[in-house]
Amino acid sequence: MDSILVRGGQRLTGRIPISGAKNACLALMPAALLTEEPLTLTNAPRLSDIRTMAQLLESLGCEVASLQAGRVLVMGAEGISNHVADYDIVRKMRASILVLGPMLARDGHAVVSLPGGCAIGARPVDLHLMGLERLGATLDLRDGYVHASAPNGLRGGLVEFPMVSVGATENLLMAATLAKGTTVLRNAAREPEIADLARCLRAMGAQIEGEGTETIEIEGVDRLHGATHPVVADRIELGTYMLAPALAGGEVEMVGGRRELVAAFADKLEAAGIEVEDTADGVKVSRQNGGIAAVDVETAPFPGFPTDLQAQMMALLTLADGVSRLEERIFENRFMHAPELIRMGAHIEVHGGVATVTGVERLRGAPVMATDLRASVSLILAGLAAEGETRVARVYHLDRGYERLEDKLSACGAQIERVSERAA
Ligand code: EPZ
Repeated sequence: MDSILVRGGQRLTGRIPISGAKNACLALMPAALLTEEPLTLTNAPRLSDIRTMAQLLESLGCEVASLQAGRVLVMGAEGISNHVADYDIVRKMRASILVLGPMLARDGHAVVSLPGGCAIGARPVDLHLMGLERLGATLDLRDGYVHASAPNGLRGGLVEFPMVSVGATENLLMAATLAKGTTVLRNAAREPEIADLARCLRAMGAQIEGEGTETIEIEGVDRLHGATHPVVADRIELGTYMLAPALAGGEVEMVGGRRELVAAFADKLEAAGIEVEDTADGVKVSRQNGGIAAVDVETAPFPGFPTDLQAQMMALLTLADGVSRLEERIFENRFMHAPELIRMGAHIEVHGGVATVTGVERLRGAPVMATDLRASVSLILAGLAAEGETRVARVYHLDRGYERLEDKLSACGAQIERVSERAA
């Protein structure tokens, strides 16, 4: 197993290209199951989660071609030859549940393994299932699988989500495109990934209005056709790299990023004393000699502060002047990075969903590891600012969501490299 070795203390200068969004791409790929014509995604990120979704689609009989070294994905589901999404793939990646809505909408039946919990929380899929039932599906939970059927096709309906769910909104949005009549999704997620999916579905012939707001209306159509769609920029990758010069000092331009994708986060960075500037090509972040001010953060669905940037923001606040309060309101167990940051010299107390971070003057490098993607990258960010060497183990978490992380950071002057365990 590989680790990433970071030698802290280098100021960063340069430009980092922002890739297409993992979480948008993971929702866009299953949309290929809605039509017998090819769906082409450009600006796809090259990540292990994307390869896992490609494997899942292939297991269902969808052809997936990866062109331009993985930048372009062409998916063709002339027919769905297998309607069972197997536990072995679903357990690796929860986004696998997103094949349920499309298969059911197109062919009237689907069997998908229940994903189970994961490191950051229980993460049930009850809202996905409730929504599909509202569209007329019959569901049966047996042997760890959801057996869904709608022999006469799905029919439009009103789905009111009791809480905001990105995945459930995506599943229902896709399913409703082929349902008979009108579907209204209330309390829908407003994340940019939802708007991106709606744009792609519209290019495929779907009739959708209101994406990006709390109410999305979908008028079902008989069939969808192929399309070519560029994946939106990854706002979490953007926010993560915005924190690199904030922690290490220096000035870095994130090329292809846009402030509106991370507005709540950018506001907090500025409140912490970090300069954020829009440029012609993206967003520039700098911290010259100034310190970091303490700020309070509460995660919330978009347009609030993203839970997927909470760990990385905590890394910054370990070095702030004063006490910051971070409240995690989306997932119940998303502070696994805190004990590791403490090993690097941070002062953090966690009580339930609230972490209190008292800034320290410096962090010290240490061997660390984390059990999820965003926690892992927060340790890399901390390592950029720490004295000495930080070795982050379990790099496979990073490879799920950050493309060429060490190349992007070392191009800006970071001392960071991937080492194999044997060499370590
Ligand atoms: C998406 O997960 C993202 N994943 C997550 O990114 C992200 O953290 C999350 O949205 C919140 O922004 C993908 O897009 C592939 P939710 P998702 O349904 O859709 C509860 C990363 O690091 N809930 O919006 O699974 C759930 O337990 C990842 O890239 C139910 O109770 O998230 C959570 O507390 C991690 N029942 C809350 O809602 C349901 O049926 C929000 O979850 C569904 C969700």
